[in-house]
Amino acid sequence: MSNKKSVYIAMSADLIHPGHLNIIKEAKKLGDVTVGVLTDQAIASYKRVPYMKYELRAEIVSQLKGVSKVVPQETLSYAKNLRSLQPNFVLHGDDWKEGAQKQTRNEVIEVLKEWNGELVEVPYTQGISSSELDKTVRAFGTSPDVRRGYLRRLLLAKPTLRFLQAHNGITGLIVENAKAKRGEHTVEFDGMWASSLTDSTSRGKPDIEAVQLETRLESLNDILECTTKPIIYDADTGGRPEHFFYTVRTLERHGISACIIEDKVGLKKNSLFGTNVQQKQDTIDGFCKKIQVGKKAQQSDDFLVIARIESLILEKGHEDAVERAKSYLQAGADGIMIHSRNKSPKEILKFCEAYNQFKNRMPLVVVPTSYNEVLDSELSTAGANIIIYANHLLRAAYPAMMDVAQGILQHGRSLEIENHCMPINEILELIPGTK
Ligand code: SPV
Ligand code: MG
Repeated sequence: MSNKKSVYIAMSADLIHPGHLNIIKEAKKLGDVTVGVLTDQAIASYKRVPYMKYELRAEIVSQLKGVSKVVPQETLSYAKNLRSLQPNFVLHGDDWKEGAQKQTRNEVIEVLKEWNGELVEVPYTQGISSSELDKTVRAFGTSPDVRRGYLRRLLLAKPTLRFLQAHNGITGLIVENAKAKRGEHTVEFDGMWASSLTDSTSRGKPDIEAVQLETRLESLNDILECTTKPIIYDADTGGRPEHFFYTVRTLERHGISACIIEDKVGLKKNSLFGTNVQQKQDTIDGFCKKIQVGKKAQQSDDFLVIARIESLILEKGHEDAVERAKSYLQAGADGIMIHSRNKSPKEILKFCEAYNQFKNRMPLVVVPTSYNEVLDSELSTAGANIIIYANHLLRAAYPAMMDVAQGILQHGRSLEIENHCMPINEILELIPGTK
């Protein structure tokens, strides 16, 4: 057996830069280098899913000078890999002593003590950072193929995704860029929901399938041009099956990742009206046929046809919803959306429980508009794979704009409402590239 010392380093290796090469060079001075490449799941647990899949990133790292071996690291924690490899050294940049990685660092030190291993920290390479490179890559945008496949990758990498409604370029940019701190972690939305309600309302039309796909594609194109995250399209009832075929083809070609069709027929009204208006649910048979038409139409493996169940909206009960979910999955649906307009999440949680027992369970989508007290973490624990915040940006914008319009009328000038508006220099700078 070789008595050469062993060194372990971990990296995402999505955008390789001189900082990575320096770490490997330093590690090589200490012994044989094993690189733990973080899996997609491990990376997605704290930041955006990587551009390249694990297999590609591992392949690249394995070809780098100085690397002896590559292993997957399945969690942010090094513990499992360290205990199985028992390296003499772990090497890392000295930039993880504070902030989100501090805990990981402390654990590495503790685990290494079990066999007298040592943590070696090298100065962080200044002037280069993965997050800066990430920004540059994003500025280049994405392609329809890459974007379309992104949703399936996210579903594999994360237990629950958050989607927010967008109906034009500016709302698309908000979903793309909004970030918030939750404890040590930064959270962001995973993609955009092209809502029929907000696509219609923003055009001054009711949500009754009166705005055609061709018209909705205009605003979708604006979103596609300035964002990179995946888009789920609200396809209402899908229309006639013969027409739905072409809807799927068109959406796929544009790089949309999924469409959701609801099991209603005839003149569709918004679900949140519930039984206050005439709405008719499709037969199970009729809707299964529509799902099959959609699945037949698609030309890539990436696209998802998700079936939306309106049984709770139309007060047909839990059993009906569960039976429909079974049938729709059997017909080939790639996921189920269960909707409710109850203020309590109870009926949704009950559905989740039954759904989780399915052998052929596929991703589950929920829309907590009326049951808005429930936390994303609670829905995630219940088994929701996609949470859609379906209309909030438009609902936020309308009253704000109305206030300002009324304020100008009331005061005979705009001075009094200036503090409700963003400053002119900020709006000029909001979209880069004007100077
Ligand atoms: C939409 O956003 O258009 C939806 C969700 O279909 S809901 O409005 O709740 O029906
Ligand atoms: Mg809709």
